[in-house]
Amino acid sequence: MKAGKTYYSCSECGYRTAKWMGKCPTCGAWNTFTEEVAEPEPKAGAPAHALFSSGDNHAVAYDKLEMPTYMRSKTGLGELDRVLGGGLVHGSVVLLSGEPGIGKSTLLMQVSDVLCRSRKVLYVSGEESGGQLKLRAERLGVKGSNLYILTETNLDRVMREVDAIQPEVLIVDSIQTLYSDRLTSAPGSITQVRENALALINRAKGDGISVLLVGHVNKEGGIAGPKVLEHMVDAVLYFEGERQQAYRIIRAIKNRFGSTNEIGVFEMEEHGLREVENPSELLLSGRPHGISGNCAVCTLEGTRPLIAEVQALVTQAPQPAPRRNSNGIDYNRMCLILAVLEKRLGLRFSANDVYLNVIGGLRLDEPATDLAVALALISSLTDRVVPDELIALGELGLSGELRAISGLENRVREAMRLGFTRAVVPARNLEKRKLDLPIELLPVKSIYEALRVLRKTDVPEKMESDE
Ligand code: TYD
Ligand code: MG
Repeated sequence: MKAGKTYYSCSECGYRTAKWMGKCPTCGAWNTFTEEVAEPEPKAGAPAHALFSSGDNHAVAYDKLEMPTYMRSKTGLGELDRVLGGGLVHGSVVLLSGEPGIGKSTLLMQVSDVLCRSRKVLYVSGEESGGQLKLRAERLGVKGSNLYILTETNLDRVMREVDAIQPEVLIVDSIQTLYSDRLTSAPGSITQVRENALALINRAKGDGISVLLVGHVNKEGGIAGPKVLEHMVDAVLYFEGERQQAYRIIRAIKNRFGSTNEIGVFEMEEHGLREVENPSELLLSGRPHGISGNCAVCTLEGTRPLIAEVQALVTQAPQPAPRRNSNGIDYNRMCLILAVLEKRLGLRFSANDVYLNVIGGLRLDEPATDLAVALALISSLTDRVVPDELIALGELGLSGELRAISGLENRVREAMRLGFTRAVVPARNLEKRKLDLPIELLPVKSIYEALRVLRKTDVPEKMESDE
């Protein structure tokens, strides 16, 4: 393409076209085309993407390959270190993404304060003025003697400061605000983000600098800019949570230096983010007691069990088309559970509006939470309470059967630790291995059986006739 000519490129797959299109013919994504300006062909020389090879490169016999040893620095926040796989790896590039106002800059300022005690840190902000940064840092109690602040959006000037200061940790808040004069596309465009990130990554790999990049999110919640950005960096972290709620979760979507299963939990306080070592307690605080429509569940985030409370509100629908609303549980999963309950138990959800919520703003995205969702729904519909000290675990099949789930013991132990005394669990889980725990386990094969077991304590008469 001739330099200076405008074209449109798909942010999902990179497909280029001369005219705008609603749907990408290659990957099928909608509304992903953005206008770009063709850049001059790069001059001959070392390819920019040669991250690992330098000069003379040859294949190595597998048994001669050495296990890598990564140098890591602790960030001062154990929860963040856990997600990173044990600390920030020297020379690695980490992309931190999340909604505006979630606390990305706060987190990075706190981390800078700790890292600068052992390594030289350069914090580049293209979003705030020096004064604003100082205000936040004061609020966080930052001392930072080896911490340098640069408010700049021009990549070349950033690189010049990197040359002058020679930092060991470089923080860029955010990659979307950086622009390079050598590119004609607008700041924040796909080309700018991709090329500037590449320049920073090459620099980091060359000099062994750890780079933390802040990435904005787009309307759909993904990282704004090219999809390749996620492939280029070593780790992608998502900072999530409800802005109105105090607690925040950091999740690794990708991590070349650790597992992607771990999450870190924080609480936003007056003086910055505080780690939460006992998230279940936080999630259960303020939990209503003795009210219908609630059921406790334990979800596994990686290896970490978290107790959450599912809330359902089922009310008579004023309109022929009933409303369905779900917060924290996949909408389609909710519809599926409702369909199973309607078909298998004959419960009339179709005449009712249904609202689902997970207390604390947690997202439950594993099927092991199906039974708790089902029980919360039935409890609200029939206005009978699921006992407070009971926790429900299990995946619901289309015939109403309860499927085995992973990590049962881990979940039940967490429930016990928080004072639950009874657990409804899939019978299939206990077929292979019995659990010998000081808690009343109620193994069930299906949703019917779960209701039968519950009926002994607190199940509505209506359900009995429904069965
Ligand atoms: P910020 O880190 O600027 O978010 P992001 O960089 O992701 O856009 O801060 C987010 C919010 O956190 C802001 O609305 C104010 C609040 N906050 C606190 O509650 N306590 C604090 O100590 C700080 C610094 C911010
Ligand atoms: Mg910010």
